[in-house]
Amino acid sequence: MPPPGISVLFDAGQIAARLQELAGEIAAAMGPDILLVSILKGSFVFSADLIRALYHAGMRPEVDFLTLSSYGAGTQSRGDVRIVRDVDDPVAGRQVLLVDDILESGRTLSFARDLLQQRGAAAVKLAVFLDKPVPRAVPCEADFRAFLCPERFVIGYGLDHAHRYRELPFVGALDGM
Ligand code: IMP
Ligand code: MG
Repeated sequence: MPPPGISVLFDAGQIAARLQELAGEIAAAMGPDILLVSILKGSFVFSADLIRALYHAGMRPEVDFLTLSSYGAGTQSRGDVRIVRDVDDPVAGRQVLLVDDILESGRTLSFARDLLQQRGAAAVKLAVFLDKPVPRAVPCEADFRAFLCPERFVIGYGLDHAHRYRELPFVGALDGM
């Protein structure tokens, strides 16, 4: 049972099953030696599960992290994206898989993609946990996605609302939001 006031959209079993399928799709499309760049903070739970699913699909990703600011404490995208903490690993010549929690306006992922392309990545592919089918502010589509997301604000599985709820082992929605 979820906490009061929260309804479940994707439960832990659905997420685990879908991630193994998704890892198979990624393994079929990319070579075994990729640089997986997890965009923090939101994608840390998804990335942690995805790298283990990728292992079972035969992949041996190198893993790095890129912390970007997007929403602050509100629920509206501010429009500007800032690097809070940069990647450590050189990206030039690498096959990069950028991993994020949600694709919504496209600002975060297109910023990250452009950044890594400017640094000479051989290819940059985008994997998102949730894809919200809303008009993008900038052109940006995912190469891989776990789930199509309902057009409402979601929490859990790494996603927060005002710094809370990241620990929920499922994706949920706050009643009334
Ligand atoms: P975009 O730059 O508008 O595509 O937004 C992407 C970022 O906004 C994601 O990485 C999330 O951190 C955040 N975000 C967008 N929608 C939601 C949501 O429904 N719940 C929690 N965070 C969200
Ligand atoms: Mg995020």
